Amino acid sequence: MFLSNSPSETPADRDGISQARVAHVAVLGLGYVGLPIARAASRAGLRVTGIDPSPEARARAADGEMRVQPQAAPDDPPDVWIIAVPTPLDGRDRPDLGAVRAAFATVVGGLRPGALVLLVSTCQPGATRTLCAPLLEGGPLRIGEDVFLAVSPERENPGQSGFGLTDTPRLVGALEAESLTRAMRFWAWLGVPTVPVASAEIAECAKLLENTYRLVNIALMDEMQAAFAALGVPTRAVVEAAATKPFGFAPFWPGLGAGGHCIPVDPAYLQREAREVGASSSLIAAALRANRARPRRVLARLEEALGGSLRGRRVLVAGVTYKADVADLRGATAVTLLQRLQRRGGCAAWHDPVVTASPTILAGIPRALAPDAHPGGSLDALVIGTPHSAYALDRLAAAAPLVVDPFGLLSADAVAGRLLHC
Ligand SMILES: NC(=O)c1ccc[n+]([C@@H]2O[C@H](COP(=O)([O-])OP(=O)(O)OC[C@H]3O[C@@H](n4cnc5c(N)ncnc54)[C@H](O)[C@@H]3O)[C@@H](O)[C@H]2O)c1
Repeated sequence: MFLSNSPSETPADRDGISQARVAHVAVLGLGYVGLPIARAASRAGLRVTGIDPSPEARARAADGEMRVQPQAAPDDPPDVWIIAVPTPLDGRDRPDLGAVRAAFATVVGGLRPGALVLLVSTCQPGATRTLCAPLLEGGPLRIGEDVFLAVSPERENPGQSGFGLTDTPRLVGALEAESLTRAMRFWAWLGVPTVPVASAEIAECAKLLENTYRLVNIALMDEMQAAFAALGVPTRAVVEAAATKPFGFAPFWPGLGAGGHCIPVDPAYLQREAREVGASSSLIAAALRANRARPRRVLARLEEALGGSLRGRRVLVAGVTYKADVADLRGATAVTLLQRLQRRGGCAAWHDPVVTASPTILAGIPRALAPDAHPGGSLDALVIGTPHSAYALDRLAAAAPLVVDPFGLLSADAVAGRLLHC
């Protein structure tokens, strides 16, 4: 069995799992992160229970491969618990670990000796040691002897092919050696490559650093886009040129600001802990501020170009999800722009080929049937909100008298005189 203290398994050992008791894995949180892990565990021959209070999440997961339920079954304790619940910010931009606490309460309720608990959700530095471990050790079981705890943050990048569960090395950190070994064995069973690190905190901080690095660079590129555009130089060509340097430069691209539930969120988790120890980062603070201001600045440029007022202006935002070709509206900066536009008296409308439902967050803002046809009449301006691959951008932009392109994707020739770089 993969959790036993045997030497590393061979494919023949893997087959042996069917003769032995089939390990039971519970995945708490069947969202973007938890569901692929649950499916991979099921494909690897493990018995999987997906646990999620959301009926929509359970419906998405209910494909017969795994058992899906709103809560844990007390009579069927798992061998492995995967914690993949959300870790957002609260209304005051502070880390909200309520779902992690609730998930650990579920685990504690069904914890049996020998079980492994893997924290996959992104948490602040020290969360494994100071939040999760005390919750698990509230009873008689001791970590490293009776039960096992490791942190293994998710690194997935939705919409980017080639970097799935088994293509991306997974960091694994723990508070002691036995938990680390068992966690690595679990991932190996699923065919996931691992990188062990010397402590839980290193794994936690590495995850936060990865996304902080992205936020800072994206915020920089957004500001450079404004600067290069004012200088009359195409930003993307500049980045492409700089990226020919074989060392010391990683390309990032401008846009309407980083959205979603990771890049604009995780740096705030890091900043909060850094502030607690008197080492808050001015650069993180500036990047978070600049990122939040990006839709506002783009709107200000549009207002200026439309003669100083947005009132009654028919503006269509093409693409509203937080990133191209992903049907996720959480933290989407195009949504922020639409809401502000409407508040300023603009006659806003949106189009998106990947959004199938009617999102509550966009209630009251009309949806256009085509990306270049405002439901209220002729267009005053078109904003590229998210450059989905289904859009033929140059052709699309030809329809509008004014085109806003925060991404720097449109060729100046295609929309000569009508292009508003931001
Ligand atoms: N989505 C990504 O691309 C991504 C990438 C890297 C890291 N992460 C991190 O992974 C974690 C999960 O993110 P996600 O995008 O999968 O979130 P998600 O919102 O898509 O899914 C989380 C699921 O957890 C469920 N849930 C909430 N409380 C629960 C509880 N107590 N027990 C069981 N289920 C519960 C929710 O109903 C939801 O379906 C977060 O910490 C996130 O920051 C996400």
